[in-house]
Amino acid sequence: MNLKDLEKQIKKCQKCRLYKERTNAVFGDGDFKAKIVFIGEAPGKAEDLEGKPFIGAAGKFLTSMIESIGLKREDVFITNIVKCRPPNNRDPQDDEADICSDLYLWKQLELINPLLVATLGRHSMYRFLPNTFKISDVHGKPKKIVNKKTKKTFNILPLYHPAAALYNGGLRETLEEDFKKIPTILKKLSK
Ligand code: URA
Repeated sequence: MNLKDLEKQIKKCQKCRLYKERTNAVFGDGDFKAKIVFIGEAPGKAEDLEGKPFIGAAGKFLTSMIESIGLKREDVFITNIVKCRPPNNRDPQDDEADICSDLYLWKQLELINPLLVATLGRHSMYRFLPNTFKISDVHGKPKKIVNKKTKKTFNILPLYHPAAALYNGGLRETLEEDFKKIPTILKKLSK
């Protein structure tokens, strides 16, 4: 199984109820050999229509932060916990997120094998870190986790969600400061 095959599977997936109202499943976008993968929550309206992740206002902000640390959007990989837009942008339900991450997200991470996985927002963070963690305490601090099934280790960097940060000056500054730490974290991990 390679990433192109996985993309084909995702495009025609009907494993949970979200396929019923989607226009396009959103596989993700970027370098299949990226050193860093960003993971949001779920596609929104624009993403559902275009079939690409993070292309609305939050996506433009995410792209500008990626560029602020000397990378291009094409250098990283961007995806979401669930690949189909939940109706009216509701939160993904646990069973939807479980199915989608078990079938697709972990596979994507294994195949890309990035040095760092940056989670965007609480929902994405709790896919990887215990729910006793608070994003206000752990944002910007890398954590090591082991996938119980595959025993593979991943470095997780919890970040605030760009959509939340866009409309909250304090969070915006925090998120921008956390982004500035990424080059140093990547350098350390690549040693
Ligand atoms: N918000 C997300 O979490 N993901 C997207 O793709 C767009 C907005």
